[in-house]
Amino acid sequence: MRFDVITLFPELVEQVISCGVVGRAADQDLLQLNCWNPRQYTLDRHRTVDDRPYGGGPGMLMKVQPLQDAIRAVRQQNKQGRLIYLSPQGIPVKQAMLARQVDEGSIIFLCGRYEGVDERLIRQEVDEEWSIGDYVISGGELAAMVCIDAITRLIPGALGHDQSAQQDSFSEGLLDCPHYTRPEEFQGCKVPELLVKGNHQQIEDWREQQALGRTWQRRPDLLEHIVLDDRRQALLDEYIDEFKKTGQKT
Ligand SMILES: C[S@@+](CC[C@H](N)C(=O)[O-])C[C@H]1O[C@@H](n2cnc3c(N)ncnc32)[C@H](O)[C@@H]1O
Repeated sequence: MRFDVITLFPELVEQVISCGVVGRAADQDLLQLNCWNPRQYTLDRHRTVDDRPYGGGPGMLMKVQPLQDAIRAVRQQNKQGRLIYLSPQGIPVKQAMLARQVDEGSIIFLCGRYEGVDERLIRQEVDEEWSIGDYVISGGELAAMVCIDAITRLIPGALGHDQSAQQDSFSEGLLDCPHYTRPEEFQGCKVPELLVKGNHQQIEDWREQQALGRTWQRRPDLLEHIVLDDRRQALLDEYIDEFKKTGQKT
């Protein structure tokens, strides 16, 4: 997977490959990260990358020319990758969008700073705008790092255990089930007995039921997008009945 990131702060974005899952994936050559700094493409002595907005108002905008030249330089090396502008006004990022990127093999992120980027550059160069949530951060770098991390988890071989990503929340449209580790009893709370006994089929059914039930409780909107077969519907019905009886999660 090839990631190209256009950013005024390459040293910040490069931190994403400094440790953990993404760091290991980079060490194994499962991904390549290239940062492109628009400041390198400025034409004036002061290497100016910002300018005042037409119409006045607070804040500055990123200058068009250094950004466009940086994009052209990236395009020399990455002709296929879609150019994504990270923006609070973009499409909310979803797991399924990220999974598609792994199939495409490369992606280019444009990180805004200041009040953002000239609208004409977005219209002419950007394929899509992505948002990491309904809040405003100071620059696109952290948003790009979030996307790089989330995409990397989906690259085959990037996670230690092949099935880890498949069991993550959202991968099949549901939230993940709850997990437990030792000790078996913690401050009076026991691990569900069934997990300790080790009957694999029962454990699988329990996990599936918990994932369905959790999603029903916490993110019912997700259930609207999936069709449950009879077996799964029965598991969810049983969870809901139990919840209504006890007022607690099963
Ligand atoms: C201070 S923000 C500019 C916000 C812009 N004035 C607005 O309100 O739409 C600077 C940059 O941070 C990035 N950014 C801010 N919030 C973001 C979000 N929720 N998702 C993705 N990128 C974001 C964008 O690249 C943006 O150009």
